[in-house]
Amino acid sequence: MSIRRIAITTGGGDAPGLNAVIRAVVLSALNRGWECLGIRDGYNGLLQPEEYAAGGLVHLDRESVRGITHLGGTILGTTNRGNPLHYPVKDEAGNVQEVDRSDELVAAVKAQGIDAVVSVGGDGSMAIAHALVQKGLRIVGVPKTIDNDLNGTVITFGFDTAVSFATECLDRLHSTAQAHRRVMVVEVMGRYAGWIALNAGVSGTADAILIPEIPYDIHKVVKKIRERERLGLYFSIVVVAEGAHPAGGQRMVVSKQAGQAERLGGIGYRVAAELQELTSRETRAVVLGHLLRGGTPTTFDRLIALRFGAAAVRALDEGCGGCMVALDPPTVRYVPLEEATKRMKSVPLDCDTILTARDLGISFGD
Ligand code: F6P
Repeated sequence: MSIRRIAITTGGGDAPGLNAVIRAVVLSALNRGWECLGIRDGYNGLLQPEEYAAGGLVHLDRESVRGITHLGGTILGTTNRGNPLHYPVKDEAGNVQEVDRSDELVAAVKAQGIDAVVSVGGDGSMAIAHALVQKGLRIVGVPKTIDNDLNGTVITFGFDTAVSFATECLDRLHSTAQAHRRVMVVEVMGRYAGWIALNAGVSGTADAILIPEIPYDIHKVVKKIRERERLGLYFSIVVVAEGAHPAGGQRMVVSKQAGQAERLGGIGYRVAAELQELTSRETRAVVLGHLLRGGTPTTFDRLIALRFGAAAVRALDEGCGGCMVALDPPTVRYVPLEEATKRMKSVPLDCDTILTARDLGISFGD
């Protein structure tokens, strides 16, 4: 089917590079003579159009995407409470129930004359896209997440910016840790994967890195701190992924609400308290949290985001649907949405970066 009108949506947590994708999609579509719409806040612009004074859809022309490549956030807005298959709806008693609104969404897309959708998001958005493709929509996915946990692509945009910022923070914490002879524990995002903690920890020369893929023993971290003390190094830097947990223990969950993914957090404070208790060394915890999601995308993320956006439109032009664009260096290829959603991409325990860390003497608490 030839294309006249496409829509773009950004879903899940924001990541630096979203606006670059939007620009690339819009310009690539307009240059083919296609019309381009933006859906506000994931799919909410179509599911709750009455919530938007200016309408839930926005016409994207050259002017609307001018000067946005370097901007963090997303000009379309995003949400992680808008899964059409598990849409959170309040019942009369005020309790939130999950309702399947996917058929309504498919009907709304068709009613708007939208021939294809570019869905920019993480694992949740790709799973939604996969389900909507089964229901008859033509969708190409673009992989986004600072967590880098999406299968089928070597990297997602947003990750490099998050790692670069976390590394800069570790650099800054070194001097204050050394000056006060403290242990600094730095908690970073990443959900159930340790990519951000690992890459920033190695680049920022952490002494210990705790990731979900390697359940830790706090006494092994204490051992590392003691080893450093014997060398006359009375400070240490410990990077903790938010999904890390002790061997035999659980990850720390802040909350779980209907229609939303569970929120993780708190492990940094727990590790810091235990290390202070066990080492008697003053310890401080720093949670980088959403700082990792903000700001200007690095050049790497901008370029990948632009390449992904343009490739998504090329994929549609070549007749694809039900696929996700993916980085397979040096090229961008298309992978089936099934491949992107079949499992989470964890850090392989035998990957070169883990081996590098071990060779450098960095402890994983194992
Ligand atoms: O998936 C991206 C991410 O930033 C995770 O690293 C983190 O666990 C989660 O989103 C936080 O989501 P929210 O902004 O809803 O708290």
